[in-house]
Amino acid sequence: MTDTIEQVAVAVTVNGKRVKRFVDPRTLLIHFLREEMNLTGSHIGCETSHCGACTVEMDGLSVKSCTVFAVQANDTEVNTVEGMANADGTLHALQEGFRQMHGLQCGFCTPGMLMRAKVLLAENPDPSEDEIRFGIAGNLCRCTGYQNIVKAIQYAADKLNGRAQKEAAE
Ligand code: FES
Ligand code: FES
Repeated sequence: MTDTIEQVAVAVTVNGKRVKRFVDPRTLLIHFLREEMNLTGSHIGCETSHCGACTVEMDGLSVKSCTVFAVQANDTEVNTVEGMANADGTLHALQEGFRQMHGLQCGFCTPGMLMRAKVLLAENPDPSEDEIRFGIAGNLCRCTGYQNIVKAIQYAADKLNGRAQKEAAE
């Protein structure tokens, strides 16, 4: 008997780029992104699927990457906060909204909030305040900056829907 763990091949499209790595079968997607890909924007808060700091987009769904094995991401498209800006380098409407509306304090939750909000707006382009609050309920902000996070998402929805943006938060 041997205690060697056989590595398995994982091929994922991350932020539009196809990558292939050999990993331990138990490797979590968050560790794959941070340690194999050097994409450290997605944070690790709890590693038990409570905080949402590790949220990424996988095949159009927001997933908590601390509870997804890298092998489960095989042949999927994963997007992280590093791939969020527009192709011309300008900020995505959500990034702009978080900046304009002061949607962050320490910023630890922000990458996960942004990725969750991106999928939320893809699923529901014009959410009410209640729908935004419900939609981000799985993402915790330890600075409790929720009011401005909601305003930031509303800002992005307004921009993406071609409406005038609101004034910056107090
Ligand atoms: S680190 Fe994944 S949900 Fe907290
Ligand atoms: S801004 Fe600090 S955790 Fe949300």
